[in-house]
Amino acid sequence: TWTMSNVVDEQVARIREQIGDRRALCALSGGVDSAVAAALVQRAIGDRLTCVYVDHGLMREGETEQIERDFAATTGADLRVVDASEQFLSALAGVSDPEEKRKIIGREFIRVFEQAATDVVADAQAHGGGVDFLVQGTLYPDVVESGGGSGTANIKSHHNVGGLPDDLTFSLVEPLRTLFKDEVREVGRQLGLPDRLVQRQPFPGPGLGIRIVGEVTRERLDVLRRADAIAREELSQAKLDGEIWQCPVVLLADVRSVGVQGDGRTYGHPIVLRPVSSEDAMTADWTRLPYDVLARISTRITNEIVEVNRVVLDVTSKPPGTIEWE
Ligand code: XMP
Repeated sequence: TWTMSNVVDEQVARIREQIGDRRALCALSGGVDSAVAAALVQRAIGDRLTCVYVDHGLMREGETEQIERDFAATTGADLRVVDASEQFLSALAGVSDPEEKRKIIGREFIRVFEQAATDVVADAQAHGGGVDFLVQGTLYPDVVESGGGSGTANIKSHHNVGGLPDDLTFSLVEPLRTLFKDEVREVGRQLGLPDRLVQRQPFPGPGLGIRIVGEVTRERLDVLRRADAIAREELSQAKLDGEIWQCPVVLLADVRSVGVQGDGRTYGHPIVLRPVSSEDAMTADWTRLPYDVLARISTRITNEIVEVNRVVLDVTSKPPGTIEWE
């Protein structure tokens, strides 16, 4: 019979057959797919897999630590965390246009990952080996969408990782190619990955960089990160994670409005809550969250974050609004 533990055993056997006694590299994004793909390969080839996680400084509170703790601790994988936040922030300085931000973040990501990959290959070569394989968390819907071609030397370009230079060519290992998202989550559970990683809601590759409407700065990221953490905490506490597809929290950094706190007039920034329900992110509706939960989020954000004096709720479906604001 077809069960998830069969899927794990079968994939592990296949990966061993494909990679043999050679080495592989995997870029972790912080998301479910790359983590489960890496965990499967780790199960198959152990420390001949090296994982690279590029910290672009645009993640939510605690997420980078979660990769280090949850992922590395449960899988025992060889993980290299590259802190590149300075590089991303300086590349983003002065930029407000959403597509321009995406381009910059994508470009810097490739630069940092290329350098990390080059280092990993050099280390392997110093020990008389090489790195021949690149692990990717391609799912069945991605395969269908991109025409079903079989995995060869390039990193898929429609996501956040572009091509690698010619002297860094790899064969692809794509152990999730036959699976749908819910099956990937189940495989992750089978492999012992914690629920908070396996159940993670979608989060865009460019991270909080496209949730600040306006220029991205360290101070603004800090404000948004705190507001987002409060919203996530309250939604989880109200057991609403399963009801929503995702809930972007957005900082309108170039907008100010007048408020009052104590005896004083304030002139602060609005935070937008964008809870959506969806099947596949192609269309979405705004989620009718309970008023008391919205009230708690609003009160806490305005009490705890001095830069924010107003919380607004986005009640637009997709279309016409996209899920993200940028
Ligand atoms: P939109 O805003 O287009 O979002 O309705 C649809 C889904 O895609 C995610 N999203 C992105 N994911 N890189 C990503 O990896 C991106 O640049 C990006 N933009 C949007 C969004 O979070 C939602 O799940």
